[in-house]
Amino acid sequence: MRLAFLSDLHIDRNPAMQVTDYLHACLSFCEREEIDMFVLGGDISNAYQLTQQFVRDLEQLAGIPVFYIPGNHDFWQKKDEAKHTWDIYERYVQDQHSLLKQPITLNEEWALVGHPAWYNYAVYNRARFTLAEIERGRFKLATWQDRLRLDFRQSDPEVSQYFKEELTTDIQKVHDKQIILVNHMVTIPEFTVPMPHRAFDYFNAFIATDDLDDLFVKYAIAYNFMGHVHFRGELQKKDTLYVANSLGYPKEWRKGSLLADIKDAAYIIEL
Ligand SMILES: [Fe+2]
Repeated sequence: MRLAFLSDLHIDRNPAMQVTDYLHACLSFCEREEIDMFVLGGDISNAYQLTQQFVRDLEQLAGIPVFYIPGNHDFWQKKDEAKHTWDIYERYVQDQHSLLKQPITLNEEWALVGHPAWYNYAVYNRARFTLAEIERGRFKLATWQDRLRLDFRQSDPEVSQYFKEELTTDIQKVHDKQIILVNHMVTIPEFTVPMPHRAFDYFNAFIATDDLDDLFVKYAIAYNFMGHVHFRGELQKKDTLYVANSLGYPKEWRKGSLLADIKDAAYIIEL
């Protein structure tokens, strides 16, 4: 069984391309690489309707199971719209393609578990910014866009804690298996943007969480895939291989074409 993982497609952020271009590129990738299951790690689009439609369409076209977790962008609404982020969260919990609905037992040995997780200000330049400045989400001319586009009506650290509890419940359902964990947020400080950095001394606060740390000690998590930060990397720490595998925006593509960069960013596991 060949599983492919990829995050941060951002199918509606590229004026030069249509959603169907992303669909057909993912389809070509799955066919060429003989993929049996495709897993998307969030930030598919800026609207839940489009995200859910994309996953349904891809599964139908490719004829293989497609699973996903939402990223922060998948919770977005228009700036001037009343925010009902928990209602959107519930739509993802109820979606049979979403790993928020339930973990997936892959075979006797392996299980797939996923949750977006949430940033809790674990990493930022504490010499330059106070916690109050981070909580505001806005510094001088820079605004963290989640502040304008979603609203959980709780602090980010509270959301991070709640999401960790939700994720722990799912992991416990498959605790006897080797676990492939998919998150959207960054779970290790090594995958935040190196500091000092002009923008990310501040914005790293909204990239990573450290609330999941003890899960990697308690459970057999062999792989942890994540997105959100738009670079690609792999790091083995203790018993877990951490993989950041975002496609990202066209200006960030390394190979310069959609299909070539999907192939470059996607990580394939053979079970
Ligand atoms: Fe993101």
